[in-house]
Amino acid sequence: MPVQTAQIRAMHWTDIPAVQTLERQLFPVDPWSVETFWSELALVPQTRCYLVATAQDDDAEELLGYGGVFTVGSDADIQTVAVSPQAQGKGIGRLLLHNLLDTARARGCSRVFLEVRSDNHSAVQMYLKDGFEQTGSRKDYYASGVDAIVMRKLIGGTS
Ligand SMILES: CC(C)(COP(=O)(O)OP(=O)(O)OC[C@H]1O[C@@H](n2cnc3c(N)ncnc32)[C@H](O)[C@@H]1OP(=O)(O)O)[C@@H](O)C(=O)NCCC(=O)NCCS
Repeated sequence: MPVQTAQIRAMHWTDIPAVQTLERQLFPVDPWSVETFWSELALVPQTRCYLVATAQDDDAEELLGYGGVFTVGSDADIQTVAVSPQAQGKGIGRLLLHNLLDTARARGCSRVFLEVRSDNHSAVQMYLKDGFEQTGSRKDYYASGVDAIVMRKLIGGTS
């Protein structure tokens, strides 16, 4: 599915079953529950934005991926970015990330933070390539021997 044919739109509560199925596939160790997605969507638009990437296949809409950002004041935190295995490597992760960054910028945020597993090479590369810098790490944050890399990107303002 080339990125040109992917559509980005707001995540709706009706997306949650498909999103959570993909979540379990992509994060088998610690997937977010249906309840977590519900409670996150309850905070849209105040402090959250959740998006899905989709493709139209005849009459059906196919879920390609999803992502979310938490915004408060001048800071934002990327909550998640996830792309279905079949759609990976085609620019959809970057498309979701850019849309989340646009949202943070539009809400007046100047700093975007995230945490990523140190062994998640694809994600670390995606964030580095997009201008995120490592600002720290949290030892054994995800599991013994699996640190969290803390990253930050400045998207405007002075801090
Ligand atoms: C990480 C993830 C979101 C990337 O999405 P994607 O659609 O496959 O990524 P894109 O095609 O947009 O690629 C963007 C950049 O990511 C990096 N990247 C993506 N796949 C990569 C791979 N297999 N190896 C190395 N770098 C990779 C590259 O820097 C790439 O830029 P480039 O193609 O110009 O070199 C996707 O692999 C995924 O969903 N993984 C499982 C869930 C997950 O770990 N999410 C991140 C949680 S923080």
